[in-house]
Formats: sequence, structure tokens, C-alpha cells
Amino acid sequence: MCGIFAYMNYRVPRTRKEIFETLIKGLQRLEYRGYDSAGVAIDGNNNEVKERHIQLVKKRGNVKALDEELYKQDSMDLKVEFETHFGIAHTRWATHGVPNAVNSHPQRSDKGNEFVVIHNGIITNYKDLRKFLESKGYEFESETDTETIAKLIKYVFDNRETEDITFSTLVERVIQQLEGAFALVFKSIHYPGEAVATRRGSPLLIGVRSKYKLSTEQIPILYRTRNFENVKKICKTRMKRLDSSTCLHAVGDKAVEFFFASDASAIIEHTNRVIFLEDDDIAAVADGKLSIHRVKRSASDDPSRAIQTLQMELQQIMKGNFSAFMQKEIFEQPESVFNTMRGRVNFETNTVLLGGLKDHLKEIRRCRRLIVIGCGTSYHAAVATRQVLEELTELPVMVELASDFLDRNTPVFRDDVCFFISQSGETADTLLALRYCKDRGALTVGVTNTVGSSISRETDCGVHINAGPEIGVASTKAYTSQFISLVMFGLMMSEDRISLQNRRREIIHGLQSLPGLIKEVLSLDEKIHDLALELYTQRSLLVMGRGYNYATCLEGALKIKEITYMHSEGILAGELKHGPLALIDKQMPVIMVIMKDPCFAKCQNALQQVTARQGRPIILCSRDDTESSKFAYKTIELPHTVDCLQGILSVIPLQLLSFHLAVLRGYDVDFPRNLAKSVTVE
Ligand code: F6R
Repeated sequence: MCGIFAYMNYRVPRTRKEIFETLIKGLQRLEYRGYDSAGVAIDGNNNEVKERHIQLVKKRGNVKALDEELYKQDSMDLKVEFETHFGIAHTRWATHGVPNAVNSHPQRSDKGNEFVVIHNGIITNYKDLRKFLESKGYEFESETDTETIAKLIKYVFDNRETEDITFSTLVERVIQQLEGAFALVFKSIHYPGEAVATRRGSPLLIGVRSKYKLSTEQIPILYRTRNFENVKKICKTRMKRLDSSTCLHAVGDKAVEFFFASDASAIIEHTNRVIFLEDDDIAAVADGKLSIHRVKRSASDDPSRAIQTLQMELQQIMKGNFSAFMQKEIFEQPESVFNTMRGRVNFETNTVLLGGLKDHLKEIRRCRRLIVIGCGTSYHAAVATRQVLEELTELPVMVELASDFLDRNTPVFRDDVCFFISQSGETADTLLALRYCKDRGALTVGVTNTVGSSISRETDCGVHINAGPEIGVASTKAYTSQFISLVMFGLMMSEDRISLQNRRREIIHGLQSLPGLIKEVLSLDEKIHDLALELYTQRSLLVMGRGYNYATCLEGALKIKEITYMHSEGILAGELKHGPLALIDKQMPVIMVIMKDPCFAKCQNALQQVTARQGRPIILCSRDDTESSKFAYKTIELPHTVDCLQGILSVIPLQLLSFHLAVLRGYDVDFPRNLAKSVTVE
């Protein structure tokens, strides 16, 4: 949902070519967030900081297209060296306005590019602001909400009450007027060599690199007290100047580089020292010093922002020998599920300890019900584990799609415990549902894959699924790790239930053998490729099952539709005769997931109903299942595990199938059309 990347080198000489390369590399790492157009703003040729102008290069298409365009610019000398420079870059997933160069970011204040801005999010009151600015004579060139921000900052600047107003003060005044979600980075010819970044509801972090020791590891927040209520008031209030003693900088000659990005994958190859901004933080770099200030107290009430050390490694975000991130991530599952359990499941004592939840366990055990909330694949992980959670916690468990949960104004009580499942930890619908539950006094638990994400910070407690960075837009390894995290939670809750001890042992034993069994399933890749060769010209593909594997069908169908653009539906086999059976004939491809579990006999009924209508089912079944295979057009035989974990194995063939179908249909697996990895708008 748009990727932001910006790079400042302060007293670290870099040629324009090096600056381009850094910006483009940053965008490539974020391309999964949007890839319909891209752009950069950099300084013009003059090396005298104060006399530079800003040059914009924007292009419809992906980051590669922008990269090619940059090198076509005759006016730009690639060898020119900048001792200090600030460049901003953006890859877009269109929300307002079609993907084209004018609508892509950076957006500008005027033809002279006095202020330029990159934005991730949606400004919901942009129409009112645009009307106001148009009435003041500002002319708009794009259809975007973001252009309003560029024009608004110029308006504030043009109407400033003092000559020495700071860049961060301007931005502060601008964000007082904005409604909606944003992460923003600004650059201006009026503030050469300076940068300002801010966020509300969309993620933004800052990496710091210096060969010198930094002057501080904690950046104290400077609070400002004045508030602005409407545009009319904008310029009437004087602000305090920042106290430079609160700033972060390197000692020595103060050479330092700053990297601003929507997520850590774009920063990690430069530095592992990062600062996560919170909503309404305004971070400013001037004279190589970073300071953070805000008007309101922060949600965390933390009076400083720590410089944290990221544990991520560059190779974790590289494709290696795989043709796509999605493929790499499917094949990583033996390790990712192991990492999810590492240090948490003790296979000798049959115990599970989730460090992030242990202090809240008593409260959770006393709760009225569990509500598990997510979107897309994360929601499917909740569906997949609902039954085992009900069994192990002996509590009512509701699973909810975040958007629908909010639409219904679902009643939530103080004694509810609400789980928020999200790979990115930034999904707007899930985040809003979290705030909704928090406002009603429920205990909130985050299950995310992104340390420092909004959901992991705003929940009372949580579990990090430790699947490693997931770059492919289609979620794969996050699903299996979310699944395991929720099962681990159930196991932890049931530790002292005597009646459940045998069941717990069986599940923990099943968890232990999962990495090996996943490897066995992955070895079926060639067979699944052959199946894809038969299916890839079809228009539709049904996936049917029930019980523990209903979620497998929903998730398999989602994978197929999102990357192959085939119509696909996950059907609850119990519902077959209530409608979907009408779709069955000898042409309609149907995959049936039939496992040796309590629903086996009922699945056999569905199989009979399908074959009786001349359907030709492709059956995902257990290796020892001779009964189902008799009626199958084709079978994919899977190793057997405990019923409630079988969905982890049965989803993998469907992940692989969707991957091969998409490749055979000629689509870019990692960048499906119209989608973005992190959906930070409602
Ligand atoms: C599907 C997919 C999406 C996400 C959904 C929630 O492959 O990736 O359906 O699962 O957008 O995203 P997170 O988990 O980041 O909240």
C-alpha cells in the first residue's frame, strides 16, 4: 500500500549515481507494497546546498521502469558528488487517481517544486482541504489526496508569521489539518539539507548509520503544547524552537546517514540501528541532527524513542535460488515453523511458554470469550484454529473479519480477550478493530510477524510469530506460523487441565514432527507442477472440504484467485448440497481435501455427491487412504499428522499449485495486479 523510502547523507560524500542506487534499491525492497508507478525527488546539479533546486522524476510502471528513466535524464550528471543530500522516493499503489506519472509521488506544491512530499495512506478530508486551497488560488495538477498536503505546506509557509519558522513546525501545522492515515516525508528548497517525516496510522521508521558513536541511544521527545483547530488559525500561533540538546547526532565530525522507510526490509542492508516512529511523532533532521517532537502525548506515553537494533539479516529478504519470493517463502516453511516454536515448546516436558503472554494468562483464563480478528489469510489462520482453541481453552471462540466486525459495531466487553492476527501488523481494518476493542476495555493480544509494527505496539500483550520477513504479496509462511502460534496459545492455556493431558501430548508431539513432514510435502512439488499443467487454462477452480480443513479450502482458493486471477472458491463440504453442487459437472475442476479426521465419513458423502454428478475430483488425502483414491481423478497424498495440525500440511500443496498456475499463466507471482502486501487503508 505504497512504499516510502528516503535517504540523507550528511557530510558523507556520495555521487548522484550512488544516491540513485540507494533510492532505487530501497524502493525495490518495498515494491511489494505497491508497484503501479514510482518516483523520486533529488537535488539539481549545483553542489552549493543553498542554491539547489529540486528535480522530480516519476514514471508509470514498476521500480525498474523508474530506474531506466533516471538514467535517461540528460540534465543530470551522475558523477556530481554531494557532501550532503536528501533524496526521497516512492512506489505507489493507487488509491486516488489512476496510475500515471502525474499522480505518482513525490507530489509537489507548485511548478518550482518548493515543497515535495511522499505519502503512504489516505487523507480522508482531502476534498475539503483542496477546496480551501483552490479558493486561495492554488492550482492542482493531479487527482491525488497527497497533492493537498504539498499545497497545504506551501500555504502555511507562504502565510508564515516569522521568517525563521522551522521545517518541522510547518509540518506540524500541516498534520493538524489532516484526517485519515499517513506516513509522510517532506523535502523543500527552502530547507536545503533538511528532512521532516511524520506518521499517523501508517508505518514509518528511521535507520541511522554512522561510523562514529552516536551521542545518544534514546531520543527524548520534545512536547509542544499549542494546538490548531482549523485552517484559519493555521498561522496565528508561534512555536517554540527546538532545543538542540535533545537531538541525536554522531560525535566526531558528525558524519551520519539517515534512511526513512515504510518497513525495515528497505533499511537492513544499510544499518540495523532503527527508530520506530509513533503516531503524530514529527522527526526532523537539520544540520545532521535528528530530533523528534510532538504536540499530543504519545499512545505509549513513552517520553523518548529508543534506537533499537534489528535482528533481521539481509539474506532473509533476498530471493536466493528461487524465482519468486513467494516460492522461497513456501519452501522456507520447515524452518519458519521451527522458528515459531523455538524456545517456546518444550518437547521433553510437554509444556509451552509464550513469553509475551505469560503475565496475562490468569486474566485470559478468567475471560468471557475469545474473539480472534484478522483479514484475508490472517483471518483464515483464525478459522483454522478455532476448533482446537475451543477444545483446549474451553472458552467460546468467535472468529471475525476485521472489516465486518467493525461494520456491525459488535458488542465487546471488558472481560473479553481479543486477538489481532496480522502478518504486517499494519493492516488498517485490523488496527481499527484493535482500537475499537481497546476503547471498550477488552484485553488485546497481537499475533504479528513484524516487530515494532502498530499492532504489536498497541496491543496489551502478544506473540511474535517469528516467521521471518514475508515479501511475496501472497501470504504463505505467515499463515502456517500464525496457525502454530494460536495452537501454542491453546496448549499454554490448557496446561493444568488433567482431562486434556493426552490430547496436549499428542498435539505437542505433532508439532515436533511438523518441520520434517512439511519437507515431505514440499517434495511433491513436481507432481503439483504437473497438475498445474493440466489446470492452468481453466477459468475456475473449486476447493472443497470441512472441519479442520475448511480453512485450508478458503486459504487455497484465496491463493489461487489472488495470483492466478482464476475464479476460485473455498466451499464448506457440508454446504455442498445447499447450492454449490449445481456447479459440478465433468468440466468443473474441483479439489477436495479429505483427511483422516472426525469429518472423514462426511467428506466421503460429499465425494459421492460429486462423482454422482460426473465430477472429476482431485483429492488431497492421507497416504493410507485407499477409500477416497478409488473415486479420485487424481490424488495428492500427504503424510498424516494430528487432526488439528493437518491443515498446516494440506495447505502447502495449494500454495504450490497457485504458484505454478500463476507462472504458467505468465503472471508476476510476487506482484499480483491491484494488490499490495500491507493494506494500510480501510
Ligand atoms: C493473502 C494476503 C492478504 C493478507 C491480509 C491481511 O495472501 O496476504 O489476504 O493476509 O491483507 O494482512 P496482514 O496479515 O498483514 O494483516
